Amino acid sequence: MRELSDIEAWRQFAHGERVAGRSVGLVPTMGALHQGHVSLFRAAKAASDVVIATIFVNPRQFADENDLARYPRTLEHDRELAAECGVDCLVTPTLDEMWPDYPDCTPTTVSVRGIGDVFEGADRPGHFDGVASVVAKLFAVTGPSHAFFGEKDFQQLAVVRQLVRDLGFDVEVVGCPIVRDEDGLALSSRNVRLSSEARRRALGLSRALSYVASTSARASTLRATMRTILDDAGIDVAYAEVVDPRTLRPSGDDESGPRRALVAGFVDGVRLLDNGPVTVVREN
Ligand code: PAF
Repeated sequence: MRELSDIEAWRQFAHGERVAGRSVGLVPTMGALHQGHVSLFRAAKAASDVVIATIFVNPRQFADENDLARYPRTLEHDRELAAECGVDCLVTPTLDEMWPDYPDCTPTTVSVRGIGDVFEGADRPGHFDGVASVVAKLFAVTGPSHAFFGEKDFQQLAVVRQLVRDLGFDVEVVGCPIVRDEDGLALSSRNVRLSSEARRRALGLSRALSYVASTSARASTLRATMRTILDDAGIDVAYAEVVDPRTLRPSGDDESGPRRALVAGFVDGVRLLDNGPVTVVREN
């Protein structure tokens, strides 16, 4: 596995592969790699000739300095895992390569309004500006044919899809299914910060989602049910919503059909997200 941190070398590598007629798959990450990332690497290997993975803890998407400082960094382990998964090139750019003179100089911002302003965007101001800006730069430098993102960050995936549509990037965005531990907890780099007691409470998230996935009801009933399960589990709920999977608009009780349930909350100060499919039925 090749490892690069310099933007010009990374651009040249990707360009060389494209010129040689090989398709380039991109897996953007912030490191602290786990089996969820492994599933992205596998999907990228299956769909592209060459896989480039990036590890960059992007300060611009953290609304809270403490969250950024506590974000796990495990580069040695990440390097090994990426190599084992057959990643061809691991890119670990420095802060100055990605955002020269940050924070003294304000970098260009890509802002996906609307779907970027609700849920995570409302609770973490600037978060999706940071995500959209860094993803736009990763696409611009790499020029991938495909890019792979986990469905665990469902709203992020929707923001990236709109960014690609609106700015005309020639890249197919591939959403990969959530990977869960045996107990149902969705894998996240933040899970390492949970004590065993906090982890037990966090299972309320997947419990709420599997309960509503197994039943059909009005959107408001599903919302209320999820909130009750989350409250009972001792989760400090940020939101529990049922939305249109493309627009992320909350579903009304006059709608029926497949929708997405989104939940988020704090357990011992750790913000956790999860989501899953659900079916709403119209009020009679
Ligand atoms: O999902 C992530 O790890 C990050 O938000 C991403 C897409 C790598 C952008 O920094």
